[in-house]
This record gives sequence, structure tokens and C-alpha cells, in this order.
Amino acid sequence: MVEQYDLAIIGAGPGGYVAAIRAAQLGLKTVCIDKRKELGGTCLNVGCIPSKALLQSSEYYYKALHEFKTHGIESPSVSCNLQQMMKRKTEILSSFNLGIAGLFKKNKVQHIVGSASFTSPHTLLVTGGVAPQEIAARFILIATGSEPIALPFLPFDEKRILSSTGALSLDVVPRKMLVIGAGVIGVELGSVYSRLGSEVTFIEFFPRICPTLDESLSKELLSCLQKQGMQFHLASKVVAATVGQTEVTLQVTLPNHVTQEMSGDVVLVCIGRKPYTQGLNLDKAGITPTEKGFIPITSSFRTRAPHIFAIGDLVDGPMLAHKASEEGVAVAEIIAEHTPKIEYMAIPNVVYTHPEVASVGLSEKEAQDAGLQTKTGSFPFKASSKAKCAQEEEGFVKIVVETKTERIIGVHIIGAHAAELIAQGALAIQNKLTLSEIINTPYAHPTFSEALKEAALAVMGRAIHK
Ligand code: FAD
Ligand code: NAI
Repeated sequence: MVEQYDLAIIGAGPGGYVAAIRAAQLGLKTVCIDKRKELGGTCLNVGCIPSKALLQSSEYYYKALHEFKTHGIESPSVSCNLQQMMKRKTEILSSFNLGIAGLFKKNKVQHIVGSASFTSPHTLLVTGGVAPQEIAARFILIATGSEPIALPFLPFDEKRILSSTGALSLDVVPRKMLVIGAGVIGVELGSVYSRLGSEVTFIEFFPRICPTLDESLSKELLSCLQKQGMQFHLASKVVAATVGQTEVTLQVTLPNHVTQEMSGDVVLVCIGRKPYTQGLNLDKAGITPTEKGFIPITSSFRTRAPHIFAIGDLVDGPMLAHKASEEGVAVAEIIAEHTPKIEYMAIPNVVYTHPEVASVGLSEKEAQDAGLQTKTGSFPFKASSKAKCAQEEEGFVKIVVETKTERIIGVHIIGAHAAELIAQGALAIQNKLTLSEIINTPYAHPTFSEALKEAALAVMGRAIHK
């Protein structure tokens, strides 16, 4: 018998599973299908959460080795137990896999394990689970996410040539790690292994790291990571590779056009991700992806077939978990005839290095390119008493303001806890706050947050501690 639903969701990542819960809250009979047994998609299983677990453990290790002594904490020997770090990471993932399953149960979302493919615009066939199953739905949401891009001459084997997935589950700390691409994944996972003792060398195509960041943050991050011992070859290109039994050798063309050999026991390739639509049989639904593989959608997330929606990494825009979740909620609400609106400019972007980097809104250059007259203010954490007490003096806060209205249009932070501090920037941009609304708000002392207020004061030339 074909089971009938109001909404069938393909993919249980932060886009799909959040949409499923919201849809069920709104009274829709909802099914969520994922080919992975574990719920949570890329983010929970091989993305955000395992990387943040390893970043936290490796940061503690690094601090114990290099910083505790200054605080008067001395330990005769600190060592790294990678197996325990990985075990802790796996336990965190399992607890959240179960947590989402519990939320599905509580909200009466039907969960099916298996690969879904269209058999017609309203029907799906799910295979690879317990038994093939046919599903019919009034509405369908595609949230199948993305996958890592490989270099054509260096396919992933997850032993020596790693994607982020392989790099999250190594059983030994590599002696030498080469990282192709100094974007978000590169600097996060490169940091993990550098802290644990690997010699980490980056080869980046662009003349700067994390090229989508405001240039001043990109520069500061480079300098911080270099101080930690990571090496960078910018404006450089890998042109060939030889994979041996114990080593991989890359031919790298440097900015002076000289080609140099670089070897490592592993290579992490993180040059971006691409939408994942394999096996969906989109033609049966009348949907054609773009040349780059994204599913084209309208401003209300509808594909060419108006009852079929698409969200998350699969559609154009930043590939971020919280962006996928916002879109998932919006689709559920649209189906329930609400009128949600996502303010894309208020979606923050974080790089979980040490120091962290977080941005929301427009960079100074983006604002100027958009023809806006701007003024900026910044405040360094070295002038923050809380940052000094915490031995976290690297970085600064920069605020971009539209001159005429004094509206805050960009907040850019590099420093400890930037990932948490940026929520204030998102709140300001979402609610169209002006400088005076930040300046007139009392901030607790001593806190990292005070740097935001001081940066806002600095826009007016009124910073107190700078
Ligand atoms: P996904 O999470 O990719 O989920 C898609 C799901 O669809 C998968 O579970 C897949 O199995 C399933 N699927 C695919 N095809 C089918 C099919 N035919 N049938 C059934 N199921 C199918 N973002 C952040 O915001 N913060 C971070 O800190 C962060 N860290 C990251 C670290 C790493 C290493 C990586 C790789 C990514 C990170 N991201 C982070 C990005 C984030 O993981 C993605 O933006 C997010 O997971 C996208 O969500 P989604 O729901 O669109 O897709
Ligand atoms: P990315 O787009 O962030 O960075 C890729 C980098 O590789 C860029 O700097 C690019 O210039 C460089 N590059 C491209 N081709 C190259 C080549 N042939 N040789 C050398 N360098 C090359 O992509 P990344 O790091 O793979 O991450 C994918 C996505 O996953 C991110 O864009 C982000 O959306 C998401 N993500 C988010 C995280 C977060 O929010 N903290 C963490 C990790 C991933």
C-alpha cells in the first residue's frame, strides 16, 4: 500500500530534520527519509559537531602544553590520547542522533531509513532500507545537502587523500599534513592536527586565506595561525601528485612560477563542496539542476514543480547549518500558509579556529561596492581587561555603519568567543539597530562583549579604552 503524507522530506540534516519537526508542530502528517541510519545529516555526523568536538579537545591540549604555565598551573607531562578524543567525539554524535530520534517520536514525525528517488512529481520510492517502500505526498521537500569536491588527479581514498570526513576519524596524528585549500574546513581541521603535533602546510589558490571574510580579519587570522606554527603557500597551485605507500608528494606552483615538491603522510583536500542530488531521479519530477548542480528555486523555495521545495546546501547561498534550518522552518510555515521571512543579511558566519572569526552583514568592501557610504570603528581585545585576564588578547571587533542612517550593516570579530559574540551583531542587523542603540545599552564589566560597545563608540571617535 502507498502511504500518503502531507509532507515528505528527503534528507535529515539540519535543513530536513528541523523542517520535519516544525511541519509536525503545524499539524502536517510528515515523513523524513534519510539514507543514513543516524539522523542529523552532514552537520551532526561528519561536519559541524565532530569538528567542533575535536577543536575543543585539541584546544585544551594546546593550552595545557603552552599556556597553563603562565597561570601557575604546572604538570610534569601532558600527552595526547587520540583514541579517547575520537571516542568522546563519537559519544557526542550518538547522543544527538538519539536526541533527534526522540524529537521525531515526540512530534510524531515518521522516520524512514533508505534512499529516496522520484517516481513521479508526487511519489517517491525508498530503497536500501528494510524493504522498498512507496510514498505519496501533497508536498515534497528536497534537503539532500552537499558533498566534498575532489581534485581530478587526487581522488579521495580517506587513508592518505582525505576529505573532511576522513580527517575527522584519523587513528594516528599525522607527522606531516598537507592541506589543499585554506578555507573554513582547511583552517579548522588544520588547526586540530597542528595543535596535536602535526606539521601542517597549506596550499591556497587565492592570495589570502578564508577569502570570503573581510580582508582585515583574513590577514589577522593568517598571522595568528602562522604564530601557532602552521605554514602557508598562498596564490599557489597544486598541479600534480604522486601517491606512495607512506607519503604523498605534490607538485606546487608558487607565485614566482617556480614548481616545488611538497610531501606529507596525508593530504587533506578541502576546496569546497558541491550539491548532492545523486539518485534522486529529478527528471521524474520535472526538475533540472543548474550547471553547478544546485536546484533552482523561487524566493519561496519552490522548484519548477511548485509543490516541491528545496533548501540548504542544495540551493544557492552559504553552505551553513543554521541557514539550512532557517529555510526548513520557512518551508514548513509556507506550506501551513504562514508568511515567514528570512533576513539573509543577518545570517552569521563563523570560523572555529583559535582565535575564532565571526562575521555578519556586509564587509567594508561589500558595503562600498553596493554604493553605500560607510564609517567603521574597531576595538582590539588587547585593550579588554577580561581578555587580558583570560590570556586571550588576540584580535579585534570591527563595526561597519551606514553613514547617513547610522544603521549597523556589518559586524566582524576575530577573537576568543567570537562565535558567541556575533549573536549581538545578528540581533542588531535583523532588527535594523543603529549605533546609539548599542552605545546606550549597559554592558557588564569585565566582559568580552564590552569590545562591541567600544567598537561602536569608536565609530564616533568616542571609545573610552582606546
Ligand atoms: P546535510 O546536512 O548534508 O543533510 C543531507 C542529508 O540528506 C544527508 O544526511 C544525506 O544522507 C541525505 N540524503 C542525500 N540524498 C538522499 C536520498 N536520495 N535519500 C535519502 N537521503 C538522502 N555549518 C555550520 O553552520 N557550522 C559549522 O560549524 C559547520 N561545520 C562544518 C564542518 C565540516 C567538516 C563540514 C563538512 C561542514 C560544516 N558545516 C558547518 C556545513 C553544514 O554541515 C552544512 O551546511 C549542513 O549540514 C547542510 O545541511 P542540509 O540539511 O542542507 O544537508
Ligand atoms: P571553502 O569554500 O570555505 O574554502 C575552499 C578554499 O579552497 C578557498 O579558499 C579556495 O580559494 C581554495 N581552493 C579552491 N580550489 C583550490 C585549488 N585547486 N587549490 C588550492 N586551493 C583551492 O570550502 P571548504 O573549506 O571546503 O568548506 C566547504 C563549506 O563547508 C564552506 O564553504 C562552509 O560553507 C561549510 N563549512 C562551514 C563551517 C563553519 O561554518 N564553521 C566549517 C566547515 C565547513
